[in-house]
Amino acid sequence: MERPVDKLELRREIRSARRAIPESERRAASTAIRENLLDRPWVQMAGLVACYWSAEDEPSTHGLVFALWKHGATVILPVLRPDDDLDWAVYDGPDTLAPGRLGIMEPIDTRRGVDTIRTAALVVVPALAVDRTTGVRLGRGGGSYDRALARVGPNVPVVALLHEGELIDGVPAEPHDRPVGFAALPSGIVRIG
Ligand SMILES: Nc1ncnc2c1ncn2[C@@H]1O[C@H](COP(=O)(O)OP(=O)(O)O)[C@@H](O)[C@H]1O
Ligand SMILES: [Mg+2]
Repeated sequence: MERPVDKLELRREIRSARRAIPESERRAASTAIRENLLDRPWVQMAGLVACYWSAEDEPSTHGLVFALWKHGATVILPVLRPDDDLDWAVYDGPDTLAPGRLGIMEPIDTRRGVDTIRTAALVVVPALAVDRTTGVRLGRGGGSYDRALARVGPNVPVVALLHEGELIDGVPAEPHDRPVGFAALPSGIVRIG
């Protein structure tokens, strides 16, 4: 297979590979990722976790969000703003979500502002791919997390959730791209660098 040359092509390739993952496999992958994360003390200890509510063929975060909340963490989830930046609102159980812009589920809680992510002890982000050497993250193309992660301090773990095979070499990087420090895969958690 030829090496993808740009972000658009790489996004297309990964999205098509994701569509081919059977639902049973996706469910098993999501469970494995959740368990790998919940095993880590720095996940268990985080009092405020910025996470996201997964959609479609992403590894599911639904069980992870529920487990964190159940264990007493405060979980904030993104609310996509019209300018593609991310506002944040608190998850307070399964009945506190409603479809937002683009049909993505969002908390019905008050919007707490784009700076709320500054207070997170752990940040869990979606990605289509992560570069295993640089940690550069390929998103869906809105640049929302590049903006949000610019507000996160250097000592806060930022973890991208990936399907197996999505931690790769040669993710194209632009100056605005914000790297992640960890990739969580079904096979384990990889620290970048
Ligand atoms: N800090 C920022 N401020 C404003 N716009 C930004 C910022 N970071 C990224 N963007 C916008 O988001 C667009 C998409 O970014 P890109 O990195 O390709 O997407 P993604 O990170 O979702 O894969 C960029 O072309 C840019 O216009
Ligand atoms: Mg980017």
